[in-house]
Amino acid sequence: MKNFLALFLAGFILASCGESDDMAYQVQSPDSQIEVTFMTLGGKPAYSVSYKGKTQIDTSYLGFEFKDQQPLAGNLSVTKNQLSSADETWEMQWGEQREVRNQYNELRLTLQESEAPNRTFDLVFKAYNDGIGFRYEFPEQEAFPGEVVITEELSEFNLTGDHKVWWIPGDWDIYEYLYTESKFSKINAYDMFIEGDHLGQVKLNSNAVNTPVTMKSDDGIYLSFHEADLTDYAGMTLKVDTSSLSMVSELVGNDAGIKVKTKAPFVTPWRTIQIADRAGDLLESKLIVNLNDPNELGDITSWFKPMKYIGIWWDMHLNRRTWDYASGNHGATTEYTKELIDFAAKNDMGGVLVEGWNTGWETWTDPNMRDTIFDFTTSYPDYNLEYLAGYGAGKGVQIIMHHETSGAVARYEERMEPAYQLMNKLGIHSVKTGYVGTVIPDGEYHHGQWMVNHYQNTLNTGAKYQVAINMHEPIKATGLRRTYPNAISREGARGQEYNAWAGEGASPPSHLPTIAFTRMLSGPFDYTPGIFNLSLKPYKEDHPIKSTLALQLGLYVNIYSPIQMAADLIDYYKGNPAFQFILDVGVDWEQSKVLDGEPGDFLVTARQEKGTDDWFVGGMTDENARPYTLKLDFLEAGKTYTAKVYRDADDTHYLDNPTAIDIVEMEVTKSDEIPVNMKEAGGFAVSLIAK
Ligand code: NOJ
Ligand code: CA
Repeated sequence: MKNFLALFLAGFILASCGESDDMAYQVQSPDSQIEVTFMTLGGKPAYSVSYKGKTQIDTSYLGFEFKDQQPLAGNLSVTKNQLSSADETWEMQWGEQREVRNQYNELRLTLQESEAPNRTFDLVFKAYNDGIGFRYEFPEQEAFPGEVVITEELSEFNLTGDHKVWWIPGDWDIYEYLYTESKFSKINAYDMFIEGDHLGQVKLNSNAVNTPVTMKSDDGIYLSFHEADLTDYAGMTLKVDTSSLSMVSELVGNDAGIKVKTKAPFVTPWRTIQIADRAGDLLESKLIVNLNDPNELGDITSWFKPMKYIGIWWDMHLNRRTWDYASGNHGATTEYTKELIDFAAKNDMGGVLVEGWNTGWETWTDPNMRDTIFDFTTSYPDYNLEYLAGYGAGKGVQIIMHHETSGAVARYEERMEPAYQLMNKLGIHSVKTGYVGTVIPDGEYHHGQWMVNHYQNTLNTGAKYQVAINMHEPIKATGLRRTYPNAISREGARGQEYNAWAGEGASPPSHLPTIAFTRMLSGPFDYTPGIFNLSLKPYKEDHPIKSTLALQLGLYVNIYSPIQMAADLIDYYKGNPAFQFILDVGVDWEQSKVLDGEPGDFLVTARQEKGTDDWFVGGMTDENARPYTLKLDFLEAGKTYTAKVYRDADDTHYLDNPTAIDIVEMEVTKSDEIPVNMKEAGGFAVSLIAK
């Protein structure tokens, strides 16, 4: 229900600015803390943003470059302005919380060139309590009669200080980097750029970072830059100017020099800036989903339900079994899958992911073969898909389909529909897709418009056949899960798999507390937590995971996804009392609260399970030990809970003794506190079951 009332009382200001002939237009967030100011300076469109009275984004210019046209960045004036507001509450079918309040004030400006070709567009700003978004909307017009080719978007973000930044390079193909924490002035994306024989094609155009990129100013303000509703457009990286402390959009293009090919009318994605003075507020922000269109798929919960799953997966990353059949040590056999289905059924897990079930894996990374090998409907001879789908269904467990495309995307487009039809016929309602390798067609990149449209096609085809999608090597999430709730999860960051085989060793302990405040702002992450055999022996020597067991449990709460893998080999779960937490923990939430945390350092999250009064808490820290007192004041008054606490023990050490864990049970109420001593690379998990 939209509420356009009372907004003029609530703090819209429309004022003329003394220092320029040009009028300034302003819009404030509903709580008046954030203010966006727009003006044209000598015909150039510019905006600034303040928070609690202090400028956070200084005068920043806006514009476009097009093929066969003059840049659109000057000679502009505002011909129309309009203020409005909305306050609605919508429900997430699955998510970090059930109800989301979408409350903002909007300023819509129509700009037009004063000289030929008199191009025009609307610039729309939405001011929320947790940040702002703006986008460009181009109507149909004579100046854009046919195809429009955008060669660059020029949206600037001019910072007011040399902030601390958590960043990854603005790679056009892959986000699977370790984050760097540095001053803005020290960002050098080339330092982190992976070149050479990496399986993904990699391209970095300039000193740019990928989004979400999170920053902290010297006076403690947190800012995160990203985009929302990336549809039929190119992904945006942010080119960094370390001397002027500013960033400008740099869209991902292709080798033909095209960034976006479109036709008027068209709109850009929202450019977003989340702003908070508490780090946890960035994580609780729902700005990105709010800036997306409402659900277009209707209720999908009859065929997709959040779930925990296991799989034939870690086996391959440990080199214990193989994806391919020819090795003689094939993982995806009917027999092994049955064993996993039985285990899943016994432990109330909804799914079993099976990788390596279809023919082609012998040559999946061979550049000369990978275009044609996978058809997604032909099983290896030792894998009986139909039988297993039925066997699982009889036990309430679904097979999770796996489609590794090897980057042969045009081929996948051809072969996708029969594969999704097959899934539908077999009652399989989710697929993990994958795009390892350079994109075919050659010259396209994972984060460009062509691929953005492909990822959207998978969602559309999925919707048609009741299939939910977990994309690996994806385009970043931009909140489209609101519109297409079958966009359940994705990778798009350095996941657990790197801990098995990365040449430089396992990810450092600061990786996850950094991911939590960067990548996680975009949406769910299929990180695949729950490795219990943290030394990885006997499968890998000298490649220990830099984590304690208690931290792995806490990830089920700290790193959100509606599908959560129990990623280890099932033998490590059998008989282990710590597995109880994975069995108990929720996967769908009534509400979520970030109790404490700091990017790169630590995080403590509490979530209430949807449909119950039970709460779950996760904690994790970086390489620094962190004694922590968990206050239970978020619990409901007057209720008693049985708390089961899984915390690092006195002798836990992430390298020498990572699986030592202290498990205690107690009765608690909201006035209680639980001491948890997080060890280096450690953490904790707590289940609070209402009595
Ligand atoms: C990369 C994915 O991230 C991983 O989970 C998968 O096992 C391999 N590709 C093979 O598809
Ligand atoms: Ca990957």
